[in-house]
Amino acid sequence: MVSLTAVQTHNATLKSLSSGLVAVFVGGTSGIGLYTAREFVRNTKAPHIYLIGRNQVEATRIIDELHELNPSSKLNFIKSDVSLLRNVDEVCKEIKEKENKVNLLFMTVGYLTLKGRDETEEGLDRKFSLHYYARMRFAQNLTPLLNSAANDMGPNARLARVVSVLDPQLGLKLVPNFSDLSLKNSFSLKNCGIHASAMNNFALEHLGNMHSNISFIHAFPSGVNTGAARGMGQVWLNVLKVATVLLKPFMVDPTESGERHLFASTAPRFAPKAKGDGMDELATGSDGKSGSGAYFVSWNGEVFGESKKMESMRNNGAREKIWEHTEEVFRKICKGKDKY
Ligand SMILES: NC(=O)c1ccc[n+]([C@@H]2O[C@H](COP(=O)([O-])OP(=O)(O)OC[C@H]3O[C@@H](n4cnc5c(N)ncnc54)[C@H](OP(=O)(O)O)[C@@H]3O)[C@@H](O)[C@H]2O)c1
Repeated sequence: MVSLTAVQTHNATLKSLSSGLVAVFVGGTSGIGLYTAREFVRNTKAPHIYLIGRNQVEATRIIDELHELNPSSKLNFIKSDVSLLRNVDEVCKEIKEKENKVNLLFMTVGYLTLKGRDETEEGLDRKFSLHYYARMRFAQNLTPLLNSAANDMGPNARLARVVSVLDPQLGLKLVPNFSDLSLKNSFSLKNCGIHASAMNNFALEHLGNMHSNISFIHAFPSGVNTGAARGMGQVWLNVLKVATVLLKPFMVDPTESGERHLFASTAPRFAPKAKGDGMDELATGSDGKSGSGAYFVSWNGEVFGESKKMESMRNNGAREKIWEHTEEVFRKICKGKDKY
């Protein structure tokens, strides 16, 4: 485990990086996204922050708070329902018009629900879209700006990282249904959990291979008391309230979660594939090789080890199948303006 002191010591060094780092928090109006944005603003010089979400009232309050925390920061809120991929494209267009680089794309967008399939007008399940397709569309759209950050000639300013906060563990143990990756015909909450986890794992590994100057992280936050269950109805909220009190000793404190996610977002040990050479403290990548550019990181800063199940899926072409499917969905919805 990386100690909290080591995390805080590292985070304090971020002030020595160039000023004007750009960070996009998709899901920055609540929970882990907000806690991490707060630490980013606290620990960097004149950052440009983009918070993406739907809650204008919360965003206005957060922007005031973050500005007070670091008056040199430039704070933007983009209001959008990003369960729709065409909205993701609009948001990215707006960011591209304002910035010529992005140092960090940090994605926590999503929610807890016990409801079944809830199809968007684009033909995807809403929760699955937020947990996987929308995140990968952000990553794909913003890789040119992340690559610009990676090639920045300023002093110590080459941070370029994509972090998707969900849970890599299910995808390390269980096999998705490759004949119905979008779960059009075999949706269940369990399948949605397996597919979102495994597809994040393989897609981030694929992107880490394709973009060797950018690191890609799939992070597991453990239990953090946030607003994630707010849509579950009062009965479940009451149950969760009691459970949260009972489980408090096993949960991660929200501020600590923000600090640890900032560490995962910036620590040199999670180096991109092309830049790990010669570094002595490199983490093991998703493929079991040191510094290979994609990492599955637990709440405590340790990586999940290589899994035999994932290796066997990889050997059977899982990475290519998942990415081809993802591009097909993007083509149909974003280019074809059609429904998947
Ligand atoms: N908290 C935990 O213990 C835990 C454990 C394991 C995994 N996770 C996963 O980690 C991620 C982050 O969880 P969290 O606890 O930070 O959740 P949270 O507090 O509910 O935050 C979710 C964020 O997503 C945004 N969002 C939701 N639907 C959206 C939509 N359609 N369009 C745009 N933005 C939307 C929300 O903003 P608006 O309300 O402004 O739209 C909010 O900023 C989730 O994927 C969750 O499943 C959490």
